[in-house]
Amino acid sequence: MTAGGVDTPVERLTPVQAARELSCLAVTIAEHDRHYYQEDAPRVSDAEYDALRRRNAAIERRFPELVRPDSPSHRIGAPPAPGFAKVRHARPMLSLDNAFTVDDVREFAARVARFLGLAEDAEIALVAEPKIDGLSASVRYEYGYLVVGATRGDGEEGENVTANLRTVIDIPHELRLGDPPAVFEVRGEVYLSHADFAALNAAQEAEGKPAYANPRNAASGSLRQLDARITASRRLHFFAHGWGEVSDLPGASYWKVLSALRDWGFATNPLGSRCVTLDEALAVYRRVEAERAGLAYDVDGVVYKIDRLDWQERLGIVSRAPRWALAHKFPAEKALTVVERIALQVGRTGTLTPVAVLTPITVGGVVVARATLHNEDEIVRKDVREGDTVIVQRAGDVIPQIVAVVRDKRPANSRPFVFPTHCPECGSIAVREHDPKTGEPEAARRCTAGLVCPAQAVERLRHFASRDAFDIEGLGEKQIAAFWRDGLIEGPVDLFMLEARDGAGRPALAEREGWGPTSAGKLFRAIRARRRIGLDRVIYALGIRHIGQTTARLLARSYGTAEAFFAAMAAAQDHASADYAELLAIGGIGETVAEALLAFFAEPRNAAVVAALREQVDILPVAPPRAGSPLAGRTVVFTGTLAAMTRSEAKSRAEALGAKVAGSVSAKTDYLIAGPGAGTKAERARALGVKVLTEEEWLALLGPAVAVSSAAP
Ligand code: IVH
Repeated sequence: MTAGGVDTPVERLTPVQAARELSCLAVTIAEHDRHYYQEDAPRVSDAEYDALRRRNAAIERRFPELVRPDSPSHRIGAPPAPGFAKVRHARPMLSLDNAFTVDDVREFAARVARFLGLAEDAEIALVAEPKIDGLSASVRYEYGYLVVGATRGDGEEGENVTANLRTVIDIPHELRLGDPPAVFEVRGEVYLSHADFAALNAAQEAEGKPAYANPRNAASGSLRQLDARITASRRLHFFAHGWGEVSDLPGASYWKVLSALRDWGFATNPLGSRCVTLDEALAVYRRVEAERAGLAYDVDGVVYKIDRLDWQERLGIVSRAPRWALAHKFPAEKALTVVERIALQVGRTGTLTPVAVLTPITVGGVVVARATLHNEDEIVRKDVREGDTVIVQRAGDVIPQIVAVVRDKRPANSRPFVFPTHCPECGSIAVREHDPKTGEPEAARRCTAGLVCPAQAVERLRHFASRDAFDIEGLGEKQIAAFWRDGLIEGPVDLFMLEARDGAGRPALAEREGWGPTSAGKLFRAIRARRRIGLDRVIYALGIRHIGQTTARLLARSYGTAEAFFAAMAAAQDHASADYAELLAIGGIGETVAEALLAFFAEPRNAAVVAALREQVDILPVAPPRAGSPLAGRTVVFTGTLAAMTRSEAKSRAEALGAKVAGSVSAKTDYLIAGPGAGTKAERARALGVKVLTEEEWLALLGPAVAVSSAAP
């Protein structure tokens, strides 16, 4: 929050730091006010906003001489938005001090008692009522008739929304009493019920308009419509909770006046209650908190008000908040809602993530309609089922989570969720891999058909055309995404049809935005040039999990030709086959890699893509290691760290040259390549008379033969 992002305790701030921070806070808070009040689109949570204001107030308390003319504490809310006429409030519309703990509340009561000169344990009657999460408005009556209605605005001046407030069902156009006062301004909270909010957002979406973030913003947006007929369609409500200028008061206590307002035709909150002791008031807080999730509207705390109006008068106002009232806020919110269904999202790389689709509910002021379930184990662990009532919470105010299932509310016909074994986007097989060390299944299930799966298409095509794969110049992610979006390409095979299909039924590539005859011609040439390509690049381009460039080369060298490789992949599906045994016998191919390879080729659509691709391109065989290689038939062991390449790269290079790479040194070892940090292996090698090479010596031994990759021709 400070300029440097870290809060120095207020007591340790120097005046220069304090001045700098107050200046930053003035700008930041004004900006948040603008988002909140004028755009109905807050950028921070209420808690964060409150923290900024508290920090500002604390610094100002310590350095009163530094209070700025534009200090946020002089201002409540933002100036009115243009569009409505302005209304100056006859009495300012105030704000409330916040409390977050019971201790804060006790301190408030003690402060009041001290101020009034009462004994600390004196009985001070309070009214405790829900703090409605809406927007405050003021409605002025003269001789019983509604004459003007206004929003709070900056507390001094609001917007004239008389016509709009007249559409609110809980606001009478005429006060129901025989001898009405000359002037009476009723103040209260305009709000929208959860049901009306959901209906409004559904209608907004149906009309292609943006949804409101929460009921409060929706209420604010609805009240501030320039066309009051729109406001009328939104079914706003109003709870009266105070007054402004009045010529006469119908009672000497807040409670009595509230009851008169009810008689005159206003709605007041039914959960409000007059409490003789502080403990009673705290019990109201607990009751409202307990009932909160089931209420038809949002509440964010309980407001305590000293009941006696003469005491209110004496207590007065400090910096825009009455000393006689306090808002006791609720902690981070949890809410109950229903899991309507469990949906699956497929990520760019094929991971299936389960998501609970919830009956929308506001949690901490934000509508939550989805919550992540992370993975299939999480669903089992929490036993979340479709139709379940669940407790949701927003962690760190951002990602909604399901905390637990309310078992008592589980429908009788409920069934455990069965995680699909096929990708919801493309219908292909989705597998869970096993950790090669523990044998345990991995958390994520993945779609095996990246090349045909729409959720993964752009990412896979990008990989397919990338430098180490098909290396198609001029075809980056941006171009691929645009081609894919416009239906020019669905999979890799389409790339090789682009030129032949160009212009058929749609504008030619040269006429597309960002393209011309030269660039289009260049791309077609680049693609044509890749119609002859090495097997290693093809294997790598398929984007099979765990098959990087090195493993792709290893496979290409081991099988030699495309025919041999693809035939082996089909045959090795049978784990009892010789082909499977052969696959595992390739040094550097472990079970994880084998499993990933076989899962890929088990999916018929992948096999179909490969078959179609083979019709378009000539796959060149990759030569087996030269017989003359100095490493052919030798056994090597690596130890210590290598500088020029990773251990696995070193291994596969050695294998490409016909060496066998072993894990430990024995009498059969020909070379031990020892980088810095080599330990017992080097000692053992020396003891056995095995030749020990440094990395440099080893690289020299490889000589020019290291260029094992098939370059794209
Ligand atoms: S009394 C003199 N009572 O909370 C103070 N305010 O954070 C006037 N609010 O501006 C407010 N429910 O918009 C009061 N039962 C309630 C309330 C309530 C919601 C709002 C009101 C106020 C804001 C202050």
